[in-house]
Amino acid sequence: MPVRINPSILAADFVNLERDIARIDSADLVHVDVMDNHFVPNLTFGPQMVGRIQDVSPIPLDVHLMIEDPDRWAPGYAELGAYSVTFHAEAAADAVGVARRLREIGSRAGLAVKPGTPIEPYLELLSEFDQILVMTVEPGFGGQSFIESVMPKLATLSREVRRRGLDVWLQVDGGVDVRSIAIAAAAGADTFVAGSSVFNSDDAAGNIAALRAAAAPHVH
Ligand code: DX5
Ligand code: ZN
Repeated sequence: MPVRINPSILAADFVNLERDIARIDSADLVHVDVMDNHFVPNLTFGPQMVGRIQDVSPIPLDVHLMIEDPDRWAPGYAELGAYSVTFHAEAAADAVGVARRLREIGSRAGLAVKPGTPIEPYLELLSEFDQILVMTVEPGFGGQSFIESVMPKLATLSREVRRRGLDVWLQVDGGVDVRSIAIAAAAGADTFVAGSSVFNSDDAAGNIAALRAAAAPHVH
C-alpha cells in the first residue's frame, strides 16, 4: 500500500492560498475542509471557493465536508471536479445514496466518523465507499492533539477491508505529525491528513517528506 499525504489548507494562509498550494505539490492530494458553522462551530469555504482552488491546484482535491445535510450539498462538490468528497456519517440521512451519487458524478466517495462514533454500523456499507475517514480530533479546528484511543477503529476497518479484499483507503485527520503518523499507520491507516505539521514552517515539502518517511515502515 502506498502512503498518501494530504496537507490540509486549513493551516495555510487564506490570502495566499495559491502560493501555499504550489508549495505542497509533492503531496498526493490537497485536503480542503468545508465547514458550515452548524455541523461544526467554525466556518471556512463554500463551493465557489473550492471551485477556484480546483482551478489553480496542481494536485487533485480531497474535500472533507463538515456540514449538515450532505445529502443536498455533497454532489455539488463532485460536480466541481473534486477527486474525492468525504461527508460525515453523523450528518447524512442516506449515506449510501450520497455515496452512489458521488461515484456516478465521477468522484471517489468517502465516509467520515467523529472520534466518538462507532464504526461497526458502517462495516456492512464498506463496499459503497472508496475511503473511510477516521477523525483523530473533534472536527472543527486545526492544531488539536491526536486522540490515540480511536486507533482500534482503524484496526477493525483494516481487518475488514483485507478480509473482504476491498480497495478502501483508510484516512486519519487531526493532530497528525511525525510521531502520531507512525501510530496511525501501524493501526492500519494509509492516507494521512496533516495541517499544522505541514504548514508550521516555510519548508512544506520537507515536512511532507518527513511525514512520508515516518509512515512508510508501518504501511503494508
Ligand atoms: C479538523 C480538520 C482537519 C484539520 C487538521 O476539523 O478536518 O483537516 O485541518 O489540522 P491539524 O493537522 O493541524 O490537526
Ligand atoms: Zn479535514
